[in-house]
Amino acid sequence: MINAVTIAGTGSYVPEKVMTNEDLSEIVDTNDEWIVTRTGIKERRIAAEDEFTSHMGTKAATRALEQAGLEGAEVDLIIVATITPDTLTPATACYVQEALGAKNAVAFDISAACSGFLYAMKIAKNLIATGSFQNALIIGAEKLSSFVNWNDRTTCVLFGDGAGAAVLRKAQDGEGVILATDIGTDGGQTDLLNIPGGGAACPITVNNAGERLATLAMQGKEVFKHAVRRMKNSANVVIERAGLKAEDIALVIPHQANLRIIDAIADRLTVPNDRVFVNLHKYGNTSAAAIAIALDEANREGRIQRGDQFVMVAFGAGLTWAAAAIEW
Ligand code: UT7
Repeated sequence: MINAVTIAGTGSYVPEKVMTNEDLSEIVDTNDEWIVTRTGIKERRIAAEDEFTSHMGTKAATRALEQAGLEGAEVDLIIVATITPDTLTPATACYVQEALGAKNAVAFDISAACSGFLYAMKIAKNLIATGSFQNALIIGAEKLSSFVNWNDRTTCVLFGDGAGAAVLRKAQDGEGVILATDIGTDGGQTDLLNIPGGGAACPITVNNAGERLATLAMQGKEVFKHAVRRMKNSANVVIERAGLKAEDIALVIPHQANLRIIDAIADRLTVPNDRVFVNLHKYGNTSAAAIAIALDEANREGRIQRGDQFVMVAFGAGLTWAAAAIEW
């Protein structure tokens, strides 16, 4: 018996502190014009020193649970997608479980960078579809400001902090459903985008502490090309599996890394720009949180209405890519 799975609630949270392009130009040799023209980003949010990934994830999750009408104790499964966990172990999901009082849930993290939220969606959807769990809370949460090299203008202008969440559960008659999902990986390109230090391969020691190895490193131009190709292909996989045509798609919610990438994908999918969700001017690239925040904003702003069909598509380090087609 395969159950249809619905998205019963969404939530998001971004930290209070706004960092503008102007603010960044006081830290590194950059300017608003370069950042806006090359990326579309105008500002990003920066978490407080004592505000961690789990705190932001918990706030987003609380809002999603409220909308779904679910108590913490009723949650069966919590998956946190993050590359900026509070601690290497235990999983950030364990802190979230405790904060939500979700004492009956199984909780674990996944690491699939910017595609992580849609990876979590596929995993949770399949576990609910096959009856292993009744519901799941999926969260994309990142404190990238802790892993950015604030001396490197080629990366530090791109990223921000935040979290988004969704509650998945078995669909009842007449409810919208997750129509199709796709996930993929190319481990041959690990050098294009990574955090080289801080793991077992390169622990941070007194000898290398000055080298900032536990920060994001990216070959932007190469990543850009892969991002366009992989996101276009993955979106097309779910569009075809769901039996949709371009004109059926009410909204595309793409990963929020670069407006030029988003425009290129919209173009290739032949979806007009007014049917593409963009919020990266406010938040920059929040990795696994980006699509989760965008989904919640699209939901709460009424950009997706009951019965609408829409597509989410992501791309990130790994390389990883993922897409989902949804009927709301
Ligand atoms: O979330 C995971 C997926 N990530 C992505 O999808 C990111 C993909 N890549 C990108 O979005 C773009 O490649 C970037 C926005 C990162 C860079 O844009 P670009 O058009 O590829 O610029 P570039 O790296 O070729 O740099 C162009 C110039 C260089 O100067 P020269 O060599 O032409 O003299 C850079 O040094 O711009 C310079 N530059 C900057 N100038 C002012 C690089 N960063 C900055 C900066 N401010 N922040």
